[in-house]
Amino acid sequence: MTHANNCILSSRCKLAGSAECNRSCGHFIAMHGYSGKGGRVANANTPADYRLLTLATSPARESQAKIYGTLEKYVATFDRQFEPDGDRIKSLFLFSESPGTGKTTTAIAVLNEWLIAHYLGSLRRNRQPSQVPVYFLDVNEWQTLFNEFNRSNIPKEVAEPASREYYRRMHLAKTAPFVVCDDLGVRDATTAFRADLHSVINARTTNALPAIFTSNLPIEEMATVFDQRLYDRVRDQCAVLAFSGSSKRGRR
Ligand SMILES: Nc1ncnc2c1ncn2[C@@H]1O[C@H](COP(=O)(O)OP(=O)(O)OP(=O)(O)O)[C@@H](O)[C@H]1O
Ligand SMILES: [Mg+2]
Repeated sequence: MTHANNCILSSRCKLAGSAECNRSCGHFIAMHGYSGKGGRVANANTPADYRLLTLATSPARESQAKIYGTLEKYVATFDRQFEPDGDRIKSLFLFSESPGTGKTTTAIAVLNEWLIAHYLGSLRRNRQPSQVPVYFLDVNEWQTLFNEFNRSNIPKEVAEPASREYYRRMHLAKTAPFVVCDDLGVRDATTAFRADLHSVINARTTNALPAIFTSNLPIEEMATVFDQRLYDRVRDQCAVLAFSGSSKRGRR
């Protein structure tokens, strides 16, 4: 039996590291699927390098200690997802002008904390955990998909799958209980793409669904991406966390 030390639940699981910790564990399968296929971690669409990160294991934790202190308190609010009349769970805007400061790393660590809180909290309440409790939207990739079916003279075989995948992601980004919208507003966006991005964020704010946004632009710049009304609501619902320092990319 293969040891399931690559399980996202290992820091919370009593069986972690024991003989019973293996890839046929029902909880491992719920998270990571059978033989590397499926499971809620794959459904989340997080990039492979970041897949198992939590606040405790994030490489950015030490150099962004103050932010991580705030985030420990923030993730403690995640149990409110089970309280229909609970206070709204805040959204976050992770910003640094400099690239490589740990924004994406941190956003995914928090996303995984939601996934774990959702899964364990559901079991504790005898509820069926959602199949897609969290979703990672790479805004650049999403925009690339958009371009693949919105240029002229694109063959149908390219345009159709791109458009299908584009709308699939859009739906998940609108409806998943918790999402990361990674890298907002970094490239020139057409009016049509901007309208779609707008509708994703509008759907979330309207339904009080929290999100983490990361960006190399200050939140004030989002006033040019969204209309004033949506911008005001996003500002209202977001705590802004500024990441300091220079790029740590390639340091490991
Ligand atoms: N504070 C940090 N300490 C150590 N390593 C870090 C830190 N921040 C980021 N890294 C590492 O640097 C790489 C880039 O991090 P990440 O993708 O989170 O940066 P980012 O802020 O999202 O960058 P960008 O603005 O380009 O999107 C990753 O491999 C990550 O592990
Ligand atoms: Mg990033």
